Amino acid sequence: MTPAAEQTKQLKQLVGETAAQRVTSGMVVGLGTGSTTAFAIAALGERLKNGEISNIVGIPTSFQASVLAKKHGIPLTTLDEVERIDIAIDGADEVDPHKNLIKGGGAAHTREKVVDSLAELFIVVVDQSKLVERLGSTFPVPVEVLPMAVAPVTRALSKLGGIPELRMGVKKDGPVITDQGNMVLDVKFDAIPDPAQLEQQINNIPGVLENGLFVGLAHEILVGKFQGEQPVVISQ
Ligand code: 5RP
Repeated sequence: MTPAAEQTKQLKQLVGETAAQRVTSGMVVGLGTGSTTAFAIAALGERLKNGEISNIVGIPTSFQASVLAKKHGIPLTTLDEVERIDIAIDGADEVDPHKNLIKGGGAAHTREKVVDSLAELFIVVVDQSKLVERLGSTFPVPVEVLPMAVAPVTRALSKLGGIPELRMGVKKDGPVITDQGNMVLDVKFDAIPDPAQLEQQINNIPGVLENGLFVGLAHEILVGKFQGEQPVVISQ
């Protein structure tokens, strides 16, 4: 691992562990997806094991989150069984100054939006590289699409001014298939002046299940950054 990648990992771990400290006994916890949230899930499992907290249940946002939760001894439940989610901890690919996000780097944004939007407190965990002035500057908007609708949805997204690209698998030939059995179009926009409007416009295209713009959902952003040599967490 390069020194820069090692530093990013250090920040992700710190911020994930910091978020896990916010969970108290008896809480229903939305478990996000990705490498930063993975540290939060591991830390939650550790806190359960050493008796610091008890009686929590997790709602996973993906197959990955569910596997990790089981590995770390976190009991799981579903939205059929609970009436509230106390806290959700999830990562992001971009965060703007208004706490709006682009998510879906792990193709889990559909379930993530369901779970994160139901949480009383939705905490986003990121390293400093995810902060942007305007959404879309570094990352395309992931759009989950029914496989039979990929062609018309691609055309509709182009009409909205985007450049859609079907996400392809790594160590797997062909497209990425989501946990729901759908495909993902990553859509690059030159600029996203009104994220709320674009979120609606994309979701209005028949065949689109959900897109990775998360507008007005996050309550708190925990950012891992270096102050000199020292890794710290800033809440914003
Ligand atoms: C998955 C996501 C992730 O939260 C996002 O991609 C950030 O991942 P990481 O913490 O690995 O940087 O939205 O769909």
